[in-house]
Amino acid sequence: TQPRILVARAVFPETLQKLEQHFELETNQADTVFTRQELLARLKDKAGAFTTGSERIDAEVLAACPQLKICANMAVGFNNFDVPAMTARKVLATNTPDVLTETTADFGFALLMATARRMAESEHYLRAGRWTQWSYDMFAGADVHGSTLGILGMGRIGQGIARRGAHGFGMNVIYHNRSRLASELEAACKARYVGKEELLKTADHLVLVLPYSAESHHAIGAAELAQMKPTATLVNVARGGIVDDAALAQALREKRIAAAGLDVYEGEPKVHPDLLTVPNVVLTPHIASATVPTRRAMADLAADNLIGFLVHGKPVTPLNAEVLA
Ligand code: GLV
Ligand code: GLV
Repeated sequence: TQPRILVARAVFPETLQKLEQHFELETNQADTVFTRQELLARLKDKAGAFTTGSERIDAEVLAACPQLKICANMAVGFNNFDVPAMTARKVLATNTPDVLTETTADFGFALLMATARRMAESEHYLRAGRWTQWSYDMFAGADVHGSTLGILGMGRIGQGIARRGAHGFGMNVIYHNRSRLASELEAACKARYVGKEELLKTADHLVLVLPYSAESHHAIGAAELAQMKPTATLVNVARGGIVDDAALAQALREKRIAAAGLDVYEGEPKVHPDLLTVPNVVLTPHIASATVPTRRAMADLAADNLIGFLVHGKPVTPLNAEVLA
């Protein structure tokens, strides 16, 4: 008999067809997010799970699902997985790196530009019928070209944003990361390594692209926002919780920084009510990787991890390869 798989959220019909050739599927095309109890009940008899950021896989889930061998996340981020607990239980974790890098970097850059040039705020103004005449400083924002781009978290996506800034917009790129990049990678994106304090103090536009962890929780809070230039903008395309949203809303309201662009939020899909009422913020609903071809590629890669591991013993992009040994 074929291994049983839970596909926890709705996905492309083509992805289900591919999985159906190897597995007995339990699907959720109605796309209701499972409660904790539903997740436990549905996953109990499964060998594998096709998951998204909405399913938290932790010690409690693993203890309740002894047959589980793999969770394949359709996301590059995997802070919904307790990877050490999965490794301890010999459950393989996989994610979807690389296939979304350029698409996500495009969106990070789009959000930077929309934020610097006040596109959301000005569109709301126009739609509200408030545009009555030209004015010398109407929605005057910050320049992107030639300015200093700061990147916190210099993985693949951070490097993609750096390349766009350096090569496309003549930006002076600085970055901070846990470890410094190899010099050829720094050269490819014309980026200079600096300490976190220098990054905060010098960036005209600061983009966050670091993974969420206990270490990066509130990496940008009131103290960090206070170090930024009053003309600076902040963009987060990484994860909610890296920014203290309450502190950010206050800094935006008091114009202690000029503007922010956010794709991710603490406790999303809920958004801090103060962020919804400040004008100088561009808000998008966690869509940085959302192009049709990239979402297809992510779904395919998650499916290939399930097939690769459960059918051939060889996953494509394992996060805890020690489970395979
Ligand atoms: C999206 O946030 C992802 O991690 O892929
Ligand atoms: C994600 O893939 C990153 O390394 O930024």
